[in-house]
Amino acid sequence: MSAKNNQPDWNMIAEKFDMWLPHIAPVGEVLLAALEVKPGERILDIASGTGEPALTLARRLKGHATIIGIDAADGMVQVAQAKVMKEKLQGISFHCMPAEQLAYHDNSFDRILCRFGVMLFNDPLQGMREMRRALKPGGRFAIAVWSTPEAMPVMHWAYETFKTRLPEDLHPPLAKVTSLGAPGLLQDLLNEAGFAGFSVERRAFDYQFGSFEELWDTVEASDILKQQYDALPQNERGKIRDEVGRFARDFIHDGQLRIPHEYLVAAGNK
Ligand SMILES: C[S@@+](CC[C@H](N)C(=O)[O-])C[C@H]1O[C@@H](n2cnc3c(N)ncnc32)[C@H](O)[C@@H]1O
Repeated sequence: MSAKNNQPDWNMIAEKFDMWLPHIAPVGEVLLAALEVKPGERILDIASGTGEPALTLARRLKGHATIIGIDAADGMVQVAQAKVMKEKLQGISFHCMPAEQLAYHDNSFDRILCRFGVMLFNDPLQGMREMRRALKPGGRFAIAVWSTPEAMPVMHWAYETFKTRLPEDLHPPLAKVTSLGAPGLLQDLLNEAGFAGFSVERRAFDYQFGSFEELWDTVEASDILKQQYDALPQNERGKIRDEVGRFARDFIHDGQLRIPHEYLVAAGNK
């Protein structure tokens, strides 16, 4: 399984990514708690996608902070910025920028967070060096990355199901998405970027759906596997659904599908 960066085309799926936000909201809460933001601070959300967790923070602080979200995909930034306009939120803006090259001065943020972005960067080490550079001395960071392939069941099931049908360069990006999940890797990355004295905690939450159909409808409708589906004949769709559905059977309890997913949270100060 190579760590090829065949992640979804974030620009193309930007309008649909919000389908996943309620499911990963618990991770945002953990990051915001670890970040310990105070009113009046300057906060950067890296790889902010369609705006979370930055928007949740802005709604809570009601203009009493300066919050900036950046993402490399302009489509995601547009969706996030449209929410700012629609809700007339104060003190928050989104900008298109790679994490590896932040257009901010050294020591310019009190807090920096990143939910499920670092492992997707083209150059995670450079991204973490930039995060450290932009953080004020004593400033606090909190980041979340996915754990190991086995602890990320939905993507793992998709990988197992598609991999036999597609050439390697079109396999679902399980390796890239879980590339920082093995013990020690995130610690090593942060140490190499210059951080010290931080914590790394393994945590879990459940993806919850009313049924397997509801889960797989979300996967298909959100287009996160569009590249893979586009490379297969239409009549393979039903077979894929059936095969993935077999993996999901063990996770149905009391008429609910609950699939535990593991992630790592690193938090500390510069
Ligand atoms: C899984 S989404 C997470 C979005 C958001 N943080 C959330 O949790 O809802 C990953 C995001 O990382 C962004 N991304 C990937 N590589 C990036 C890079 N090098 N610099 C900045 N953003 C990047 C993608 O464009 C995408 O919006």
